[in-house]
Amino acid sequence: MDQNPFKEQSSIQNAFTAKRLGSSSLFLKNSFIKSATYEGMFDKGVPNRKLTDHHVTLAKGGVGLTSISYGAVSADARTFEDQMYINKDSLNALKNLVREVHVAGGKVSMQLTHCGYFSKNKKAKKILAPSKLFNAYGFLSGLGFSKAMDEKDLNKVIEDFVRSAVALKAIGFDALEIHMGHGYLLSQFLSPLTNKRKDAFGGSIDNRSRFPLEVVKKVISAVGPEFPILVKLNLEDGLKGGFSLEDCIDVSKKLENLGCSAIVLSGGFTSKSPFYMMRGQIPLKGMIENGSSWTEKITMSLFGPLIIKKYAFKPNFFLHQALKVRQATKIDLVYIGGVDSREGILDILSAGFNFVALARPLIHDPDFLNKIREGRIEKSLCNRCNQCIVEMDREGIKCVLDSA
Ligand SMILES: Cc1cc2nc3c(=O)[nH]c(=O)nc-3n(C[C@H](O)[C@H](O)[C@H](O)COP(=O)(O)O)c2cc1C
Repeated sequence: MDQNPFKEQSSIQNAFTAKRLGSSSLFLKNSFIKSATYEGMFDKGVPNRKLTDHHVTLAKGGVGLTSISYGAVSADARTFEDQMYINKDSLNALKNLVREVHVAGGKVSMQLTHCGYFSKNKKAKKILAPSKLFNAYGFLSGLGFSKAMDEKDLNKVIEDFVRSAVALKAIGFDALEIHMGHGYLLSQFLSPLTNKRKDAFGGSIDNRSRFPLEVVKKVISAVGPEFPILVKLNLEDGLKGGFSLEDCIDVSKKLENLGCSAIVLSGGFTSKSPFYMMRGQIPLKGMIENGSSWTEKITMSLFGPLIIKKYAFKPNFFLHQALKVRQATKIDLVYIGGVDSREGILDILSAGFNFVALARPLIHDPDFLNKIREGRIEKSLCNRCNQCIVEMDREGIKCVLDSA
């Protein structure tokens, strides 16, 4: 135990001082970022009032940057047909959200995403992926196989990322996060499990990263070097033969050279190892209830316990792997994964990470950071029941436990 509680209190106060995000022009009021968590707060693809209130509450709770989840870069980039995508209607609603977060004293980022073949979107014209793949997630919805992307598809997706980024910057977003992890399209290119290409976009890590890096390069060139672009990248897929820590270090160095502002280090592949990124309980009952059809519910009931692997939670569960990236790079790194206490925060910052991202502790108690800053709490009371995952597919993400 620390012999001098005042010393520890003063170092936690350092985490609450202003900090520049990489070499961008953005200063955050502290070292804390709300990690993107799918909110499910949209009506027919348009963000609703709940989404604004959710992020305003987080900003008031003291987080430096709040991230909106899953801004699909086109209608076909959506995992489900009623998800938000970046178009005129959603931009109108988001403009107001940005203004209100600023009034609340926060900054706001959007996670830019393309689902690739992780799709149940029956309205999608094409289910795209690096290769022709069996879509286990969407086959019960009649979306059995993906199309291997040709040059036209690659260029169109780059255009969609660029157009979305430029539009979001124009309505006042403070930063953008390109999703290159968790088994979405760009991560499908990075992973040898889903990228079977024989051309310049498959094989070695240089080739597998070519398309995702081209997306980042074109986005940075369109929004300018001062505007913060974060990239969410897997440390590992958490699967045998998947994207490895060695690959992650390689890609991190390349992102540093491209002028990306920061890397958010995570892990897991939503369609294959979803709980690798979160750890803790699997809320199977609620996940079955949320199934979109009877066939899906029955399949989940029969095979769910066999196919969804459980990972035990421990505080700062990605630290061991993330440290390897810290040692190999100079770029600003955002640590995410199991930070749930004052001590955990100090461990991350003293290990050389520039920012600390949190998800479930802030879903449980949006005021968690204010309480840490004021010395009113030591540790989050989130128990990783992960019912918030069930709630996001019902009426919007929330914690089902009694509030702190
Ligand atoms: C309900 C829920 C939804 C999530 N949705 C997303 C998402 O849309 N995008 C993303 O990058 N990560 C998502 N995540 C992962 C979190 O951002 C984070 O990486 C993970 O929960 C570990 O952080 P924590 O231990 O602070 O919760 C989600 C996590 C939860 C619990």
